[in-house]
Amino acid sequence: MTKSLYERLGGADAVNAAVDIFYRKVLADDRVNFFFEGVDMEKQINKQKGFLTMVFGGPNHYSGQSMRDGHRHLVARGLNDTHVDVIIALLGGTLKELGVQDADIAEVAAIANSVRDDVLDR
Ligand code: HEM
Repeated sequence: MTKSLYERLGGADAVNAAVDIFYRKVLADDRVNFFFEGVDMEKQINKQKGFLTMVFGGPNHYSGQSMRDGHRHLVARGLNDTHVDVIIALLGGTLKELGVQDADIAEVAAIANSVRDDVLDR
């Protein structure tokens, strides 16, 4: 049987490691970090772990808001395609550092792209 993307990435431990590294990159990047001012990053990281586990095909425990509801207030603050591009690139860079294969990184980017219109409320 073919493994899910979640299994290929390395399961829960790998997703947890990826999200931690990813948010370090996000918070260090002046192109996007201002959106996270005042956000409780511990809660955010946990939501993101749940969300990514689900989209990678792992056990689904995500109970957060829809992508549209979760980002609408950010669209009102100017969130646009360039910010989504940065986030997807930072996630790809994170996975690359963790030794994930390019084909799997491309699959993750495609999944992130598939929610772009919801994130941008259009
Ligand atoms: C590209 C796909 C994206 C995915 C899959 C994603 C995923 C998520 C998830 C799961 C949450 C938690 C929702 C909840 O509160 O229940 C969230 C919140 C958030 N996202 Fe995203 N996101 C994406 C793009 C972005 C981008 C491009 C930015 C900004 C550069 C961003 C900034 C934020 C912020 C600041 C919050 C917290 C909002 C708050 O609590 O006030 N996200 N995102």
